[in-house]
Amino acid sequence: MPTLVEIAHEHGNTDERELAHLGALVSEWGMLADFCFADMLLYLPTKDNQWMVAAQVRAATGQTLYETDMVGLTADSAELAMIAQAFTTQKVVTGEIRVVSQIETVSLMAIPVRCDERVVAVLTRAWSRRSGRKPGQLERTYLTIFDDFTKMISTGLFPFEGRVADATVAPRVGDGVIVLDADARVRYASPNAVSAMHRVGVNTNAVGQSLAELGVAQTAARNAFERREPVVEEFEQTAEVTLLTRTIPTLKRLGRGVVVTGGVVLLRDVSELRRRDRLLLTKDATIREIHHRVKNNLQTISSLLRLQARRLKSEEAISAIAESVRRIRTIALVHETLSHEAGEDISFVEIVRPLLRLVEEGLQSTDRPVKFNVQGDGGRLPATIATPLSVVILELLQNAVDHGFPEGSAGGSVLVTLSHDDKSLEIRVTDNGRGLRSDFDIKAATGLGLSIVRTLVTTELAGTIQMRPALVDDSVGELKIATDGAGTVVELKIPFTGE
Ligand SMILES: Nc1ncnc2c1ncn2[C@@H]1O[C@H](COP(=O)(O)OP(=O)(O)OP(=O)(O)O)[C@@H](O)[C@H]1O
Ligand SMILES: [Mg+2]
Repeated sequence: MPTLVEIAHEHGNTDERELAHLGALVSEWGMLADFCFADMLLYLPTKDNQWMVAAQVRAATGQTLYETDMVGLTADSAELAMIAQAFTTQKVVTGEIRVVSQIETVSLMAIPVRCDERVVAVLTRAWSRRSGRKPGQLERTYLTIFDDFTKMISTGLFPFEGRVADATVAPRVGDGVIVLDADARVRYASPNAVSAMHRVGVNTNAVGQSLAELGVAQTAARNAFERREPVVEEFEQTAEVTLLTRTIPTLKRLGRGVVVTGGVVLLRDVSELRRRDRLLLTKDATIREIHHRVKNNLQTISSLLRLQARRLKSEEAISAIAESVRRIRTIALVHETLSHEAGEDISFVEIVRPLLRLVEEGLQSTDRPVKFNVQGDGGRLPATIATPLSVVILELLQNAVDHGFPEGSAGGSVLVTLSHDDKSLEIRVTDNGRGLRSDFDIKAATGLGLSIVRTLVTTELAGTIQMRPALVDDSVGELKIATDGAGTVVELKIPFTGE
């Protein structure tokens, strides 16, 4: 479906400013359709003297007359006469037309849309007596408001410049309407508005009172009337009730100036929404706090182990404990990262980076420097996957340092590459070290490091591991593989199970 902008560019001769005016009108006109209980179409004049529907809106308060999408169609002769008349006279024109889907004739109102000194488009409102609502006080009041807006549109006072409502939360007509007179006194309050006011303790009949007397949204109304533009404000009316209001002044040209003739306050009770926001906030904060504590506890454990190691004599025992300390620190790192993140998932590279730093600082010896790098993106992972994976990566990095660059070698580089799609995560650890021994078989490897890797990857995460000699083709960036087999690649593939 073509957009307003596309149609205007292809068929019309509106300039950017006028187009912005029409865009603002269309972003606001749900309210207009709701106030007049009818369908509205925006017609643009085309280069070949036709009128084309550039946008369409249906009322949430009434029945539609146009079953099909009208955008891109041109006006037929009956509509054309009225649209052309509204365009040339710059006045609102009303009449009767026939619409294909309707048996009876339909009432049509053509409203010239004025931007500065020029009429740039024509807005139509179509309604049928048969499908219309039974007139009551609400209906009569809304139609007079619509009438005010109609005059504003045809005199270039509506839409307001640069004021676009945030459509996701902005209150709609159906949420509640308070109509104000020129002195900001309540002329009418819709049933939903009355209910909202009841919830904040206003039990008197609001009509005739000012918002200040009622204690509802008075500052918003004052600002809107003074600035002559819509004002959105949220009020924590009581501890339980939060009202979101949008106050729109109605304006009239008088001589060379503009006066405020009244206004409408659209109000929505957003208490439930805000309560959920707050709950989410506290839930997030609690989760972060828990991770913070887990990290602290892990640090305490690793300090205790280190103390214990100092009393030991056996080299083997000392190095075993040192390794445990390193593994615990790795897990602590994950919780540290989680304690900064909002939500329960973490961006995996945010863990891999500090992990590399940890290895860079702690694991290697200065006589054979190894450079560590990470590339790609692992996406966001829940802690249940990120924690074992960081332990796995630590083991692989340690192996690269221990076995790839043993004593006497010149050092080199290690690259961790991450990639993911919605089904799985791939991690590749490549080093350009000495390479695997010719008789190496991962299934037969009995060291603790690869056992940990195997258990976590295949058993816990249902993934696969591959270890192979690095090939010249594996060279990436700083990591150069000079001859085939001079280096090791470990590839892990972890499926995401849709838990
Ligand atoms: N990047 C690598 N380059 C060369 N050989 C490797 C590499 N990674 C692993 N190996 C080989 O796999 C063997 C098993 O590794 P594993 O991590 O299981 O035990 P380890 O490193 O010897 O001891 P631990 O990790 O328990 O301290 C190593 O002894 C080494 O021969
Ligand atoms: Mg190892």
